[in-house]
Amino acid sequence: MKRVGIIFGGVTCEHDVSVVTGVQLAENIDKNKYEVFPIYIHTDGEWYVGKELLDIGIYKMFDEKKASLKKGVILPNKPEVMIEGSGLLGRTTYVTLDVAIPCMHGMNGEDGTLQGLLELSGIPYTSSGVLGASIGMDKIIMKNIFEANGLPVLPYVYFLRDEWKENQDNIISKIENKLEYPLFVKPSNLGSSIGISKAKDRDELMTAIEIAASYDERIIVEKAVEDIIEVNCSGLGRANDIRVSVCERPISWHEFLTFEEKYLGDAKGGKIGGKTSGGVKGSKGMESMGRKVPADIPDEQTALIKDYTKKAFKILNAKGVVRIDFIIDNAEGKVYINEINTIPGSMAFYLWNFKGELSYMELIDKIIEIAEKEHEEKLKNNYTYNSNVINANAEALGGAKIGKLGGN
Ligand SMILES: Nc1ncnc2c1ncn2[C@@H]1O[C@H](COP(=O)(O)OP(=O)(O)O)[C@@H](O)[C@H]1O
Ligand SMILES: [Mg+2]
Repeated sequence: MKRVGIIFGGVTCEHDVSVVTGVQLAENIDKNKYEVFPIYIHTDGEWYVGKELLDIGIYKMFDEKKASLKKGVILPNKPEVMIEGSGLLGRTTYVTLDVAIPCMHGMNGEDGTLQGLLELSGIPYTSSGVLGASIGMDKIIMKNIFEANGLPVLPYVYFLRDEWKENQDNIISKIENKLEYPLFVKPSNLGSSIGISKAKDRDELMTAIEIAASYDERIIVEKAVEDIIEVNCSGLGRANDIRVSVCERPISWHEFLTFEEKYLGDAKGGKIGGKTSGGVKGSKGMESMGRKVPADIPDEQTALIKDYTKKAFKILNAKGVVRIDFIIDNAEGKVYINEINTIPGSMAFYLWNFKGELSYMELIDKIIEIAEKEHEEKLKNNYTYNSNVINANAEALGGAKIGKLGGN
């Protein structure tokens, strides 16, 4: 049986959401095929392993449970988890992972950092690689790249916190020269609507920038769409083999979706668990939110969104399952790509089980298959080029200390 490391939690504002995604995924994975090995990253950065991590109840008073759990980390030099004090006489033990499923959202997990560790360790993993993950995390770079590839993004301006502190007038005129109020101000690197505000005049803009700047050094300001329809679509695959899902239209009654709306749904942080729609076991995640599936938009817009989803997936070299979020400006009748989530809440399974296309269990099988295929492809690459630089120079220098060998 393959041992699958399910990694969740993390040092990020999106820690709680990630716990829900991780526990829910563990509840839906095929236990006849896979042995589940949960790995939880606490907000303090400590890593824990153990089956008890699959009980969502323990996270309410986690600090009290800490002492009874084992600490374990993924090693950077082999596909193993090193577990402290789990062997005889408190010895360290090692467990091999066949595949890892990062269920991390936001910084320190969805942004290429964890993916880098998994690359080094040589564990096949289900998410986008370092490149796709990190581009997908930074709203500024992401928009630059989409724009460069002809995908429509809302007009925007970006700057650094220091530039704002040094010359506010300069930044304000840069924004006002390019964009009209109302505006949306966002930290470049967060998610779940944290640090985002809408500004309808200069005063509000200044406050909004201060808020965003308290979360990130990089700030993006964009045109606010007032008559807005939001539509999301999921992509699944790798390389040239990309499928797209049905489109959904999340239903929001506030100005825009807050953290609670998106992830806690009617569970409101209290009652999580129980059976939800679509034969899916366990905790409520992204799927508990109000939505229309398929999105009730004109066919041409649906076709455009599916096409953009496929293109964006390929441009960012994404892998596994992603969710791409779009904004339709109703007044203009135009579709804009807003962002990609390379590890979507609840793995966007609710977009794949529409009309029984893929059950959550089958979706998990698929992303594991993709991870294995990705790993296989990587093993075909030649990493063994022998440059002989060290030997040649050691001889030339007569065995003396090798100084500057010339740079690149
Ligand atoms: N330019 C915009 N105009 C109107 N609404 C927006 C705009 N940008 C974001 N929003 C609203 O704010 C929400 C969060 O913004 P988003 O860019 O998706 O950031 P996050 O990474 O936090 O999800 C969106 O789902 C949408 O409801
Ligand atoms: Mg979003």
